[in-house]
Amino acid sequence: MADLKIWMNGRLLPQEQAVLPVNSAAVFYATNVFEGLRAYWNAQDGELYAFRLGDHFARLRESMKMMRFTVPYNDDDLFEAVRAVLAGNEVREDVHLHLVAYVLGPGLDATTPTGLYINPRRRPRVAEGQGLACCVSSWQRTSDNAIPIRLKCGANYQNGRLATLQAKADGYDQPILLDRSGKVAEGTGATLLVVRKGRLVTPTTSNDILESITRTTLMEDVCPRVVGMEVVEREIDRTELYVAEEAFFCGSGYEITPITSIDRFPVGTGEIGPVTKRITQAYLALVRGQDTRHPEWRTPTYKRVTL
Ligand SMILES: Cc1ncc(COP(=O)(O)O)c(C=O)c1O
Repeated sequence: MADLKIWMNGRLLPQEQAVLPVNSAAVFYATNVFEGLRAYWNAQDGELYAFRLGDHFARLRESMKMMRFTVPYNDDDLFEAVRAVLAGNEVREDVHLHLVAYVLGPGLDATTPTGLYINPRRRPRVAEGQGLACCVSSWQRTSDNAIPIRLKCGANYQNGRLATLQAKADGYDQPILLDRSGKVAEGTGATLLVVRKGRLVTPTTSNDILESITRTTLMEDVCPRVVGMEVVEREIDRTELYVAEEAFFCGSGYEITPITSIDRFPVGTGEIGPVTKRITQAYLALVRGQDTRHPEWRTPTYKRVTL
């Protein structure tokens, strides 16, 4: 996978040829919507499994709808594009994909044409084997009536960028953002779960978070099955973070990423906790297909299937 090509509007192009016009809304206003997902290589099966591909396509479509993009792609088109970029690059290892639908014209006209590209890249695990030192950011999560986080558009990520650069300037690894009411929202590219008084707790989808597919996977399957804990969705106060037993981020890119301190308070013992460890192992086995439960969540990208 030395020289990864980008799939752009039906063509597989070298990176330097996959370019956008400077006067497009895509470039000037970051008028795009996107999905980030991982596909996992399973050597035993000789197969590359894209995790919850149909759910990512559904969310891409929801984002396009909210942004009033024209939507020229159905799931089959998107699947063929994913297959083309993986097969075209002969990917036989773990890969992270960005699927990006963008607006070519000035962007204020709902009928302006959109394009689509898929950018495959190697993306190592975030903080492998370590916990993150997080802070509570003084930057507030953008809110549903301003620039909704439920909508996965590129421009939203300026909010996370401001918070991340501030956190790093202040000596932390990552920020945790609060919502418009001062309740805990999420990380910049991941949702947050904490263990509090022996229960797994996560903010609600009305706390200015993305409706995370990984969070859903943990709630539907991994947490109840592996640690015997239902995930409770409720508002979380900032100070609960300081007295939580465990905390971790989850997301397609972040997978399960432990947090071991928040505002310099150690989370629990300050080491990665037992619940986080068990959930991490179980999640990674599930996405790769070493755990064969839920085959409907793993789309084989080499074998010909329909979604
Ligand atoms: C802002 C934000 N929150 C949460 C997540 C986690 O969502 P998912 O589990 O669907 O990847 C992401 C990742 O896409 C994100 O960008």
